[in-house]
Amino acid sequence: MFKNKSKKSTRTFDTILRNPVFRVVEAYKTLRTNILFSVPAVEGRSKRFVFTSANPNEGKSTVSVNTAITFAQQTDVKVLLIDADLRKATTHKYFGVSSKKGLSNYLAGQDELENCIQKLPDVENFYIMPSGVLPPNPSELLSGKHMESLFAELDKIFDVVIIDTPPVNIVADALSICPFVDGVIVVATDNKTTYNELQDAVKQLKVVDAKILGVVLNRTRISNYRKRQKYSNYYRTEEV
Ligand SMILES: Nc1ncnc2c1ncn2[C@@H]1O[C@H](COP(=O)(O)OP(=O)(O)OP(=O)(O)O)[C@@H](O)[C@H]1O
Ligand SMILES: [Mg+2]
Repeated sequence: MFKNKSKKSTRTFDTILRNPVFRVVEAYKTLRTNILFSVPAVEGRSKRFVFTSANPNEGKSTVSVNTAITFAQQTDVKVLLIDADLRKATTHKYFGVSSKKGLSNYLAGQDELENCIQKLPDVENFYIMPSGVLPPNPSELLSGKHMESLFAELDKIFDVVIIDTPPVNIVADALSICPFVDGVIVVATDNKTTYNELQDAVKQLKVVDAKILGVVLNRTRISNYRKRQKYSNYYRTEEV
């Protein structure tokens, strides 16, 4: 139904598929388990998760891509990764596929769903919906009526949908998607994201009644972490 990976883009970013560092892979498996068990299964409906952060550059795309891969590595789970960062789309670059057709094309009513999703060859049951053409009005597009029909369609096909979004302290795009998902994971940078920044992000997410599942503490250094065992309820994705 969906096309296989198409045109190569110039740069391909690293993932846990190409660079499977043991501790990092294990951290993503722990994250997968925690996410999965925090949301009840509903027959005929995919589990949908938004990844966001307070600030730019905290690792949202890296963490969503690797989490999506980790979900897809479970044999019986069909996974879709959506790039809903319609301002600075990057997830397609991790797989070397084109972003020309994707979410924006579908939401603008320009293309059928099957033309906006690509199957990725590296893992069975793993698909990507890239950003599509970057639109001038991302917020309007993401809050439009087509979002509802998109998720209704995806429910028929996928078990898990992972959505990469822009930072909530900068633009409201992620907040527009929250009403359609089961949970939000906030990515923060070890030793960089401040308490106030994180608190601002959480406040905004609460305004739209988002279910915050937890914080991924990204770019931790193992030496720092050993000093802080009391924070062991945080998920860690180490600097690689
Ligand atoms: N755990 C990590 N170890 C090493 N490098 C990382 C890690 N996480 C992210 N990076 C690097 O940091 C940069 C920013 O990461 P990424 O693009 O995932 O962040 P982002 O939050 O999606 O950014 P944006 O707000 O621009 O969308 C990238 O170059 C990425 O490769
Ligand atoms: Mg990003």
